[in-house]
Amino acid sequence: MNGLRAVLVGAGSMGKAWAKAVTASPEVDLVGWVDIVDQRAREAVEVLGLAGVAVEAEIGAALASLAPDFVVDATVPEAHHEVTTTCLQNGVPVLGEKPLAATMEEARELVKLSEHTSTLFVVSQNRRYNAGLASFRGLLAERLGGVGHLNAEFYRAPHFGGFRDEMDSPLLLDMAIHTFDAARYLTGADALTVACSEFNPPWSWYRGAASAVAEFEMTGGLRFSYQGSWCAQGFETSWDSSWRAVGPSGSALWDGTTDPVAELLAGTGGDHRLERAEATPVAIPGLGIEGTLADFVTALRTGEAPMGECHDNLRSLAMVFAALESTRTGRRVEVGT
Ligand SMILES: NC(=O)c1ccc[n+]([C@@H]2O[C@H](COP(=O)([O-])OP(=O)(O)OC[C@H]3O[C@@H](n4cnc5c(N)ncnc54)[C@H](O)[C@@H]3O)[C@@H](O)[C@H]2O)c1
Repeated sequence: MNGLRAVLVGAGSMGKAWAKAVTASPEVDLVGWVDIVDQRAREAVEVLGLAGVAVEAEIGAALASLAPDFVVDATVPEAHHEVTTTCLQNGVPVLGEKPLAATMEEARELVKLSEHTSTLFVVSQNRRYNAGLASFRGLLAERLGGVGHLNAEFYRAPHFGGFRDEMDSPLLLDMAIHTFDAARYLTGADALTVACSEFNPPWSWYRGAASAVAEFEMTGGLRFSYQGSWCAQGFETSWDSSWRAVGPSGSALWDGTTDPVAELLAGTGGDHRLERAEATPVAIPGLGIEGTLADFVTALRTGEAPMGECHDNLRSLAMVFAALESTRTGRRVEVGT
């Protein structure tokens, strides 16, 4: 036990996944687990067979008694503001689950607090940590000559049960952040405006809108179009969406599962011959939350800002809330942070 001391908050489904990632890291020791229903954390400690993990029902008490080097926040979105505020005010860095916060106002407050306390706050945008996505990004940057048109299709039909079936805007609020954030990661562009329409197909088993179509105008003139549904049965895409990027030198595809490919102009001048190009494999620090944790630990040790640092992640969250505003008002709206 001589790694960085971590306290985990939230013992639900993601909390358990985080406990496994944290205990698997050779650089981190899990010293505490907090849940307002402390019995949940106690049971999880037992089920996972963890030793030396103290259980608390409140984050403030855990900070005082355990003096962690950082906190992983895997609570429900509505609790992110409270948990992260307590940590940052005590100078304890936070690696939080998405979304940054439940509202843009709360998110802005947390970003300011991270600044004022000079304390690192990173949102774990785990779907960025995918070797296929990283190599697709490389293909776009190195071979496509820039991206002018990007499209993501996300079509799945999960039967979650629970809160997603009952919430407003389940697709836009709970899932689309991953795809919107990936569009920024792939292109290095930020969203300026969006026109979005969300709707709930008649056969949907969700109470809120489970489908959406959005078109973002991004910096550099890029257009990013998104079509998604959580009640699309048949021909499902991967959880990482199916992507098409179009640039001056050709087009590139990534289905979210197999290796990305491109068709690129082979000749010069009037020669319109196309040749197939494969993406170059790219090493990542770890898959999913293991990658976000590895980058976060490196950031604590080096002081370098990792992907998902709150100022940057706010721009992805802003895409979600602007899309919601557009669908509510029926107008194209600015994506403001
Ligand atoms: N990145 C991903 O792929 C992914 C997937 C699923 C969920 N998530 C995110 O992870 C987070 C947790 O989701 P989940 O599915 O594990 O939820 P969950 O409801 O299963 O668990 C959340 C836990 O947090 C606890 N909690 C609530 N408020 C708290 C507080 N103030 N202090 C301490 N504990 C508190 C609850 O008692 C509960 O045990 C959410 O933000 C969700 O959006 C991310």
